[in-house]
Amino acid sequence: MCGIVGYVGKSNCVECILDGLSRLEYRGYDSAGIAIFNENNISIMKKCGKLNNLKEYIEKNSPLNGTCGIGHTRWATHGKPSDLNSHPHSQGRVTIVHNGIIENYLQIKQFLAEKNYIFKTETDSEIVAALLDFLYDKDPVQAIIEASKKLEGSYSLGILFEDQPDKIYAIRKNSPLIIGVGKSENFIASDVPAIIKHTKKYMLLDQGEIAILTKDSVKVVDLQKNKIQKKIQTVDWDVESAEKNGFSHFMLKEIFEQPKAAKRCMGLHFDGDRLELKIKNLSDKKLKSLKKIHIVACGTAMHAGMVGKYIIEKLAKIPVEVEIASEFRYKNPIISKEDLIVIISQSGETADSLAALRLAREKNILTLAVVNVVGSSIAREADSVLYTHAGPEISVASTKAFTVQMVALYLLAIKLANVFEKISDNECYKLCEKLRDIPNKIEKTLETDDQILKLSNIFQNSKDVFFIGRGVDYCISLEASLKLKELSYIHSEAYAAGELKHGTISLIEENTPVIAIATQDDLYAKTISNLKEVKARGAKVVLICNENSPIDKSLTDLVVKIPSNMDIFTPLCSIVPLQLFAYHTAVLRGCDVDRPRNLAKSVTVE
Ligand code: F6R
Repeated sequence: MCGIVGYVGKSNCVECILDGLSRLEYRGYDSAGIAIFNENNISIMKKCGKLNNLKEYIEKNSPLNGTCGIGHTRWATHGKPSDLNSHPHSQGRVTIVHNGIIENYLQIKQFLAEKNYIFKTETDSEIVAALLDFLYDKDPVQAIIEASKKLEGSYSLGILFEDQPDKIYAIRKNSPLIIGVGKSENFIASDVPAIIKHTKKYMLLDQGEIAILTKDSVKVVDLQKNKIQKKIQTVDWDVESAEKNGFSHFMLKEIFEQPKAAKRCMGLHFDGDRLELKIKNLSDKKLKSLKKIHIVACGTAMHAGMVGKYIIEKLAKIPVEVEIASEFRYKNPIISKEDLIVIISQSGETADSLAALRLAREKNILTLAVVNVVGSSIAREADSVLYTHAGPEISVASTKAFTVQMVALYLLAIKLANVFEKISDNECYKLCEKLRDIPNKIEKTLETDDQILKLSNIFQNSKDVFFIGRGVDYCISLEASLKLKELSYIHSEAYAAGELKHGTISLIEENTPVIAIATQDDLYAKTISNLKEVKARGAKVVLICNENSPIDKSLTDLVVKIPSNMDIFTPLCSIVPLQLFAYHTAVLRGCDVDRPRNLAKSVTVE
């Protein structure tokens, strides 16, 4: 969602802030703006639309100059995307950028209107600037503390006080914010890619912490003004990881990074050939006491959770429920002290998943976070964390993060099966051996790229596309369908193959594309009979199956083969051609692949 970047240092900050904002574009946005200390006042420029609009506007108008400033990319929630509603917002002596939602803004707005504040925008954020100005009496930190007592909702804020030149103030509650620590320059940012070009050192601002940045210092205090000694963290990836490196889009790069990401994710949990999945606060004894697992997540992460359910139930024989986080949090879920809540999230900041985690923690239920972004809110608040180590995922549509989420769940499933003595050490070893060979199989599956491009050429103008499968193949159908619709805007549905004939089959017409995923040997014949049903109604059939599966040519218009002998691990390969299909189809249709319309990478509102 919204992105924040702030810089205070020796150089002209405009370029640095605009570059930082461009590296946060993946979060999704519809307008952008910047405020900088310019001589004795604060200059603000903001523009609706892409960041380039803002850049051109700055170039055309007065060139901005200054060494301290804040910038913002806005994803509209309160008030339409417009120049006026864009951030930064200024009231009196205070200028702010805000990520999050102020839930009680109407009440505060009314209070401030009575104090003669005049509001120019429809946003919830503008009231924060006014409130800070109202509360400000020579002590910026005090004003921030007082404001935080009144604001309800979520916010990370970058703040400039007109009479405090070359200082950036920041606070965080329920929205992410990091502090980049450089040499004679310091930064605030919503995420690491915004600062990685300048520094690899950063601090994670915790809930209710206030930071005061000058070019030579970073001071962090709590809401009682106690000084906090923050740990300086180091980013373990470099600037190239956040660049396209010759690929036409981040998404394509990230699809091709999957073998490496899967290898890194699992590699950390092996000691030689032995699985050494040690999760802090989750001892073998604790695992053995579990009666049920609830996997809670949104979107693609939830689909990874569905694969996890099939695998954990199959191997460890423990019941698993998969829940959509936005449903789970409001349904008064039946959870008990013997359960484990697994929250899966790439960003670690998804509002609904975070709320589900907090709900579980309030009820004292053990929580495990499967998260990619190190130090994110979900990772920090869960009892235990299993990091997926995919490196930064920039494209809005999740690909490599999905794969590593599945890898983490496979590791957990094998571990649970072993702890519950459902598989012997030898069986555990054999499964791990297969899993460790999967990066090679993904590499091989990527060779289908040319074939998939042809497929996209054939289907690029389709009105609807159906994906069907059984068992884990059904989960992959759901993920394939989500990828296609979010990227190419083609309507698509995913169905459990046996379920289609209970209604949806009426939508199958002459030439309707049906993509069947059939990688499970024990279910293959069943899915093939479902294909007969759609073929008889004129569907154009694509079959994704194992290399050694028998093919009935009269039933299939095209066959895409993935490597065989993968046992339970086929989802790690079967998703690859389907990601490529969504990618190529979207490119052929002229869609903005890395930033699909209406979407945000990190969904920090519910
Ligand atoms: C789709 C996609 C989303 C995310 C979902 C959860 O391609 O990326 O469906 O999976 O918004 O996000 P995280 O994993 O960050 O919690």
